[in-house]
Amino acid sequence: MSVNKEIKKITTLTLLKMKKAGTKISMLTAYDFSFAGIFDDAGIDILLVGDSASNVMAGHETTLPITLDQMIYHASSVIRGVKRCLVVVDLPFGSYQSNSQIALASSIRIMKETGAHAVKLEGGVEVIESVRKIVSAGIPVMGHLGLTPQSIYKFGTYNVRAKGEDEAKKLREDAKLLEEAGCFSIVLEKIPAQLAKDVSESLDIPTIGIGAGKYCDGQVLVMHDMLGINVEFKPRFLRQYLNLHEQATKAVQQFITDVKNQDFPNENEQY
Ligand code: KIV
Repeated sequence: MSVNKEIKKITTLTLLKMKKAGTKISMLTAYDFSFAGIFDDAGIDILLVGDSASNVMAGHETTLPITLDQMIYHASSVIRGVKRCLVVVDLPFGSYQSNSQIALASSIRIMKETGAHAVKLEGGVEVIESVRKIVSAGIPVMGHLGLTPQSIYKFGTYNVRAKGEDEAKKLREDAKLLEEAGCFSIVLEKIPAQLAKDVSESLDIPTIGIGAGKYCDGQVLVMHDMLGINVEFKPRFLRQYLNLHEQATKAVQQFITDVKNQDFPNENEQY
C-alpha cells in the first residue's frame, strides 16, 4: 500500500478519520532535525519525541533521568525538520505526576517552546485529572497504557503487562477513562494482542501499539530499534528494517582505512 502524501498536514482529526476508515496509522520516534526530516518526507503519520531519548540518545538505562528542558531541546529540533506529520512529545518523569497544575505548566512549556502539536503521558486513573486539565487548555493529549517505562521500578521487569484478569480489567477501564477525559489516541505497550484488540474495538479514538499485536489502529517503533542502530535490543515484537549499526561500522572503517592510506582526500576532494 502506498503512503497517502496528498494529505496536507496530519491532525488529531485526521487520525480519528483514519481509524473510522480502517486506515492504519504509522508512528516512529524521532529526536533530531535530520532524521525527523527523513521520516516526514517518507510519509510517516506521527513522530513521537519519546522520553526513550533518555536511553537511545543519552545512554541512560531507564527513561527516568531525562528532564523537561532536554525534551524541549529534542522536540524543537524535530519540529524544525517536519512539514506534514503530527509531532507528539512525551512529558518526562517528574513533570506531571505531582498534580494537574504542574502537568499543565509542563505541557504549556512544551507547546510554547517547541511548536509541537500534542503531548503524551503515561498512566490511567492516576493521571486523569491532569489529562482533563491539559485538554481543557486546548492541548491534545495522547495516553499510554500497558508497559509504562516510567514505572519500571514499580514493575521490576520489562515483561508483557496485563496478562492477568485484574490488570487487564484496570487497563480496559483506564482506556475508557482516558477517552472520556479527551485523549485523542492511546499507546498500548507490550500487552496481549487479544486485550489490545478488545480495547481498540471499545474506543472511538485510535490505539497505537508497540508489542501489542496487529489489531491496534496503528503501530509505533523506536527509530534506533527499527533501523538497527541499537542491535542489542531484540524483543519478539521488533521488526528490524535495516542494519545501520553494521553499515555505519563498515563506512567508518573504510574512512579510517582511506585516511591511513592517504587515499582520502584525493585531488578532486581538495581546493
Ligand atoms: O518513549 C518512547 O519511545 C515511547 C514509545 C515506546 C511509545 O513512549
